[in-house]
Amino acid sequence: MDICFADCTVRFGDRIALHPLTLTLRERRIGIIGLNGSGKTTFARLINGLVKPTSGSVSVNGLDTVRDEKAVLGQAGFIFQNPQNQLIMPIVGDDIAFGLKNRGLSKAEIEARTQGVLHRFGIPHLARRRVHELSGGETQLVAMASVVVTGPDILILDEPTNQLDLKNRRMVCDTIASLEQQTLVISHDLPLLGDFERVLLFHEGRLVADGMPEETIRRYHQVAHAD
Ligand SMILES: Nc1ncnc2c1ncn2[C@@H]1O[C@H](COP(=O)(O)OP(=O)(O)OP(=O)(O)O)[C@@H](O)[C@H]1O
Ligand SMILES: [Mg+2]
Repeated sequence: MDICFADCTVRFGDRIALHPLTLTLRERRIGIIGLNGSGKTTFARLINGLVKPTSGSVSVNGLDTVRDEKAVLGQAGFIFQNPQNQLIMPIVGDDIAFGLKNRGLSKAEIEARTQGVLHRFGIPHLARRRVHELSGGETQLVAMASVVVTGPDILILDEPTNQLDLKNRRMVCDTIASLEQQTLVISHDLPLLGDFERVLLFHEGRLVADGMPEETIRRYHQVAHAD
């Protein structure tokens, strides 16, 4: 998978959320770090077209996020910072199946794929539970399952271990490690990114470090304690 930023900027009114950025992402596990408001979510949302460049462009495997908006949305799945907002149906199993509707699949095939992903994520016992009654960690896993079942090539997770206890954090980390897709993870949970192949550091809307986890995290400590 090739994610390409070409001289891309984002402005919200007169605020610059992303200064001109040119870069290509090919690695399988990519972390994104930086202070609150540094532009991490904006950067990630550009990849699946939820945010559009003010100038320049972003492409995913040659598909432009503006021109080929629908195709890009299908290739890059996004799990939000507050994933309860993306669960649509009241029952877990129905929410996962919902993403498979309108694809010409039989009822039996939809059921089989739903059960398959529930098992893969270790949550078959949640199938008939109400989504608004799930714990934080369960919600995170269900949201990931609902996106993974649709078969995207890229997964973007925005702070997936936020607010989780140690047990649920472990569950989510193990699940991320088992994903075969190209995965981008925004996180303030730095140990989670320790074995990633590449970590990007944003500061005030600029990419200020880009490399292996250890060196990028060291730079983050310098940036965070500079003021
Ligand atoms: N839709 C929007 N309208 C106006 N300003 C926005 C919008 N989205 C983001 N911003 C601004 O752009 C900047 C970057 O925001 P962004 O959400 O990308 O930060 P972040 O690094 O994800 O922060 P956090 O760690 O708090 O989630 C911030 O100053 C924010 O206020
Ligand atoms: Mg954010």
